[in-house]
Amino acid sequence: EVKKLLDDSDMVPQDKKLIQLNGVLYPAALCSEENFKALESFEAREDDLMLVSYPKCGTTWSLNLLNDMVQTVYNKDPPNMIQILEFGAPNKYEKLNEEPSPRVLGTHLHYDNIPQSFFNKKIKLLVVFRNPKDTAVSFFHFYNKNPMLPNYSSWDTFFEDFIGGKVCWGSYFDHALAWNKHIDDEDVLLMTFEEMKEDLEAAVKKLSKFCGFSMTDEQVQEVAKKGTFTAMKEKISNIQKEFADIFLRKGEVGDWKNHFSEAQSQEIDAKFEACLAGTKLGEMLKY
Ligand code: A3P
Repeated sequence: EVKKLLDDSDMVPQDKKLIQLNGVLYPAALCSEENFKALESFEAREDDLMLVSYPKCGTTWSLNLLNDMVQTVYNKDPPNMIQILEFGAPNKYEKLNEEPSPRVLGTHLHYDNIPQSFFNKKIKLLVVFRNPKDTAVSFFHFYNKNPMLPNYSSWDTFFEDFIGGKVCWGSYFDHALAWNKHIDDEDVLLMTFEEMKEDLEAAVKKLSKFCGFSMTDEQVQEVAKKGTFTAMKEKISNIQKEFADIFLRKGEVGDWKNHFSEAQSQEIDAKFEACLAGTKLGEMLKY
């Protein structure tokens, strides 16, 4: 299925180029000015479920959980296209309009760039974050493995760009600052990579309650079992090994210790403190 998604999708074949829109970088092979324009008038549906995540915070993982839950509760397969809203050509939105409900969608867009319709219709938004150090390390490897992104010759250069927000989808800290103001909004559930890692079953249960699904304990356990790193890696590798290698690298908490120098660790800690110290999100992302 994943291979089919990649082959059939409306990707623009401009490997490794980036575009800049309103000061933020995006991979040209996935995003274009035209589809951002089309997205402004995208109509959400009341029963849509949307995942919002900064890249590398657990997008594939949480989309997989949401898809499995919807499959369990509604017997509905995931759509035959990439679920990240801003990926693809503008005609993607027409195709999405034809999708039966409930649709599971995802986006890496900053809070301010999410189509207004999602807020007007009070769509349930699952927001997933991960501690910034592991996010940076994961992003660095992703840049170097993903054929649609330019390569970085060294971790040190990437670190500077990550801290400066000169990476695709912009600054991690801008995203975190924006969500920090909405963490208690009624239709928002904020989960962390670390909490999913610590107790996946509890995370699935929490998510199912938030989505209003009535799932038995067995169903929750089944979704959690299919959502472990090993189970997902095996499933996706059987469909397309390259995709699995790019998107499921290590799946651990604390890999930053193998990459950060002491100075880099202090620099990002200081930025973290300046942005998030004493806030609820700051506490959730302590690492
Ligand atoms: P690492 O590079 O640290 O391994 P995204 O899907 O947002 O691009 O995030 C990718 C990160 O999530 C990768 O982190 C990947 O290994 C991790 N990941 C994906 N599925 C996972 C799972 N089931 N359990 C733990 N980590 C997972």
